[in-house]
Amino acid sequence: MEKKLLMIPGPIEIAPDVLNEMNVPMEPHYGVKWTNFYYDTIERVKKIIGTESDTFLHVGSGHAAIDAVIGSIVEEGEKVLVLSNGFFGERIAEIVESFRGTAVQFKTDWGKALSPSDIDDYLNDNHEKFSKVMVVHHDTSTGVRNPVKEIARVVKKYGLLLFVDAVCSIGVTEFKMDEWGIDACITASQKGLGAPPGLAIISVNDKAWEVIENRKQKPTGWYLNLATMREFAEKQKEWQPYGITMAVNNVKALNKALRNIEEEGLESRIERHDNIGRYFRNGIRALGLETGASEEDAANNVTVIFNPEGMGSQELIDILEQEYQIMIANGLGVYAGKAFRVGHMNLGASKNSVVPVINALDEIIDKKL
Ligand SMILES: Cc1ncc(COP(=O)(O)O)c(C=O)c1O
Repeated sequence: MEKKLLMIPGPIEIAPDVLNEMNVPMEPHYGVKWTNFYYDTIERVKKIIGTESDTFLHVGSGHAAIDAVIGSIVEEGEKVLVLSNGFFGERIAEIVESFRGTAVQFKTDWGKALSPSDIDDYLNDNHEKFSKVMVVHHDTSTGVRNPVKEIARVVKKYGLLLFVDAVCSIGVTEFKMDEWGIDACITASQKGLGAPPGLAIISVNDKAWEVIENRKQKPTGWYLNLATMREFAEKQKEWQPYGITMAVNNVKALNKALRNIEEEGLESRIERHDNIGRYFRNGIRALGLETGASEEDAANNVTVIFNPEGMGSQELIDILEQEYQIMIANGLGVYAGKAFRVGHMNLGASKNSVVPVINALDEIIDKKL
């Protein structure tokens, strides 16, 4: 297969030594040796999430993790505050409603970060209506980074539970679950952590467990039920700390990816993503193109770019793939067809990866003029 440069916002280019772990012989998903390896992986991922809280790997994508948390903590008929400024904020609201909760969306325009002081003002008048607040850290549909640390401070002030979708941020930007006071968060293997898709990662603190334990009605479902996950983690602790068949090679690849992050150093990795993100956005703006997020609000690993005049995003995506062997993604939600998205994370957070994208766009725009 011809090698193309994969610059979509996940899955992403991953290191050969991580990819190799998908190509080693299968082994059982149970047993003392395997279980120790699984715990080793959990401990490494917990360091990146910044938590001492219970953390689970589950077979599934980021949505599986979101379903597990929301399905486990939201009760039928309950009002949940969803802070929303993009496709994935809206997705949280949709998932809350799918579990028969009522999602009340506190919205900010797409392309703008949520304002902690506006949230504070809103909660000052409305906090009694809610016990849970949910937010996305990097919304991949807009390329905006929400100030989760400051939002957490506000949410804590009112004693509410905070759930964060950090699918697109953990591993490339600062995230400190315990220190910031986040009660539940999720991520997935295929973005900032630099591993193949396939694993959902869920962290839950004592406050979230208390909510789960004190539900009026038991949650439905088994596979994505946090109480079930905890039950197996306890009762099969030494042999198989889950009730399912774990994706063994995905865990191996994730373990290798986490070791690679440690080797680089999380802070250096974050700095690399910050620098390349800035470099890429500057390059894009120098072409006369507009990015979805302002410099101040921009996520460091994904950039949304509005189409050049007279071109549709699919046309641009096709030209990039066919003529330049570069894969980028279309806009999502209200940006579908109007904007395109470039992921620059993990191996993609390098000049070797972003310069060809800038140069190709430059040529394409030049030819059009
Ligand atoms: C912020 C965010 N949340 C949730 C998801 C859903 O993750 P998955 O596609 O792994 O189910 C994505 C995927 O792009 C995402 O970027």
